[in-house]
Formats: sequence, C-alpha cells, structure tokens
Amino acid sequence: MTATTTRNPYLEGNFAPVPDEVSTADLPVTGQVPRELNGRYLRIGPNPMGPVGADYHWFLGEGMVHGVRLRDGRAEWYRNRFVRGDAGETPNTNVLAHGGRILALVEAGGLPVTIAPELDRMATWDGDGALRSGFTAHPKIDAASGELHAVTYRAGSPHLRYVVLDAAGQGTHSADIPVADGPMVHDMALTETRVVVLDLPVTLSMEVALRAGKAAHQSVDRFPLRWNDNHPSRVGVLPRGGSAEQVRWFDAPRCYVFHVLNAFDNADGSITMDVVRHDTVFRDELRAPADALPALARWTIDPARGTVTEQIMNDHSVEFPRVDPALTGRPHRYGWFAGVGAGGLLLSDDVDRFRDGGFETGPLVKVDTTTGEATTHHYGTGRVTMEPAFVPRPGATAEDDGWILSVVHDATTDRGELVVLDAGDLAAAPIARVHLPRRVPFGFHGNWISDTELGE
Ligand SMILES: [Fe+2]
Repeated sequence: MTATTTRNPYLEGNFAPVPDEVSTADLPVTGQVPRELNGRYLRIGPNPMGPVGADYHWFLGEGMVHGVRLRDGRAEWYRNRFVRGDAGETPNTNVLAHGGRILALVEAGGLPVTIAPELDRMATWDGDGALRSGFTAHPKIDAASGELHAVTYRAGSPHLRYVVLDAAGQGTHSADIPVADGPMVHDMALTETRVVVLDLPVTLSMEVALRAGKAAHQSVDRFPLRWNDNHPSRVGVLPRGGSAEQVRWFDAPRCYVFHVLNAFDNADGSITMDVVRHDTVFRDELRAPADALPALARWTIDPARGTVTEQIMNDHSVEFPRVDPALTGRPHRYGWFAGVGAGGLLLSDDVDRFRDGGFETGPLVKVDTTTGEATTHHYGTGRVTMEPAFVPRPGATAEDDGWILSVVHDATTDRGELVVLDAGDLAAAPIARVHLPRRVPFGFHGNWISDTELGE
C-alpha cells in the first residue's frame, strides 16, 4: 500500500459492511435441508460501524455475527447482530461452541464474548478467571476428551500463555512461554500427545505502535503488526499439559501461517502438520494478508533430527482450512478449503489481481492430503464460498461422509445463501440452498453448532 492509495477493496463490493441488524423467519429453501442438521450455522467477520478511510485494516472492524437456525428440515431464522461484550469488546474473528457456550473470539488480548443461542444476549467471559487475555482465534478442541487447548497473548507481551480448559470450560492448566519481539499468533496445533506453538516473523512494530495514537480509527497503524525480517521463524513443541521448560524449538520455513488444517503424531516420533502458508504478510499490503497467494503445505517436525521439512501439496491457492472436527489431533486424509480469488486462483497466477480485488474466496476445494489431489465445487457464475465447515453424517464411517456447510455470496443478486453440499460428491448439485434475506459480507470464520453441543 502507498500513501496515494485512495480506494480500499475491503470497503467495496461484498467486503462493505451492512448497516443494520435484521431478523427473518421461515427462510425459503431450494432443495431439502437434511433433517439431521439441528442447530445453528454461525459466521463472524468485521463490519465497521462508523466511517473509515482507505487505510482501513480488514482485521479492525467491529464484529458482526450472522446466524441461520436449522431444525427438522426447515430453516427457521436468519439473524445478524453486532457483537458487544460488557466493556464494549467486539470480537470479530471466530465463533464456536465449547462447554455449552457459544464464544466469539479475537486474538491479541480481547476476552471472548458469549452469545446466547437466540443471539439475543451477549456477555464478556473470562473463563471464570482462567483467561487473563483472549484466546487466539483458533483454540483446538479434543473430540474425545472435550478439552480445549489454546494459546493466549496480548499484543507485544514477552510471553505466550498456553492454557487448557476441561470439557465444562474450567481452566485446568497454564504455562507462560517466553517469546521475543511480540509475535502475532493466530493458530496452533494439537496432536494426541503434543502441542505445537507458532512463533513466526510477524511481530509488534514499536515504530508503528508509537504513532498509533495519532492514527485514524481502524487504520493500518492501529494494527501495529508487521512482517519482521529480523525475527526467526520457529515452532515450539511441548507435551499436552506441559510447562514452558519443556518446549523444544525448531527452525521452521520462513513464512506466515494463519491457519493449521490439522496435526498428528507419527510412529517415529515426528509430527505431521498441514498448514496454509503465506510467503509474507503485512510487508507489502498492510490492510490484509494479501502479499502473496497462500498455499497448502505439509510440515514434518522431526524432534530426533531437529528439523522441520516442507512439501507444497498442489498448485491451488487456498485458505480457511477445515478438517472433520472429530479428527482434530488425529490422522486425517481430507482437508476442506475456500479457494482463493473469485475464480479460484492457481499459485502461478498474477498476485496483483489478488491484491487489487481483496482477499476474496472462490470455489470450494477438497484436498486428499495423501496424494495432494484437489477437487473443486464451483457454485456458479458470480457465486463464491466463504469458509466451509464439514459436518459428519450421524453414523458415518468414511471420512468424507457428511455435509459441507458454507455461506455463499451471489454477486448477481447481492444476497447470501447457506449452501449444503454432499461432501462425498462435489460434482452433485447442492442438497440445499437456504436463501438469506441479505448479503453476508466476506469475513473470517463460521461453524456449525449442533443443538447437542448446547445441551438443547
Ligand atoms: Fe483465522
């Protein structure tokens, strides 16, 4: 970005905020909503409430949650609400369920905000004292134990805090892990025995932080994290429930990783970790992570050799990786992604096209990580998906026996749809298209939260 920039793709088209909160009942559906899907699909993203300029940073808009209630084969309602905690917190990055609570999350310090199932009440939540600062956006939940493992930190803090919450949401463990330069940490990895912490070269810039006080509301200088050529790229491995003294650090490929698809232990003691890697972020384009096209990579962390090796999986550009939540920390075959770029760009494509258009996603991409083979579902002319969620079919035995739920934006109508695909047959037409009364702006993350998870 240069000082002469006057337009900002993150304020245009379907990145633009919607102005108000609406509630609509009995949504029209094309096809048939599976009767097994009883719960809520919730999605969250930035939705700036006030005027912002061309230097608006995509990560700094107030959070807005969009929800679709499915029950007994019907789409009962759509609602969207600004996220507001007791002290005005407005997390915008992820929304998920744990311990019977719906939590809206943001990283770098803000506490989670609980959202009631009808989206009618919100409150700040500190884990009954277990959290001194917010989770990163991507805690990992072990499906077998229900435990939640998370990294928390405040921007610029000299340590990351690793915390464990039990299935009810009570804190059971914490460890403060020293780090230098104030790294940005967006995700982590969990295996059946270990935790992997990311310490990558995006760090707090004191130079930018010092001028933040004079910067415009929600401008790039209010987000003082920048690519740092002088910060090492490394991963830290510690046992589940381990202490800071037990962390072993390994040099990692020089890149930034927002999202880990999944990780698992191998018999030889190594860890397989699939990540979406960006060559750099916040070095050239400061308003969003759009320096380079992101790619799916398999990292092998080998403690015996002290190495991390990397293999790029295929030539598709993808982000928003998702795995069957039951396989978190366990061996997986399939990953589900939003293709990057409205047309689904390849890694060889012109990055300028990507930067100018903003971080827009495109087709659904399914990757068989045993071969790297990618298959796609294109939603039609002008129609692009946001982050997918995989929901296993009850009683499923195959890893891809289930549904893909995602919000699709249709540029020809400027409306959103909640689309349900058969995850095992991407060539087929959607099983259901739930027509939403408005558009859902491109944002960050969405999850299916079943009634069972909320004790309903
Ligand atoms: Fe994220």
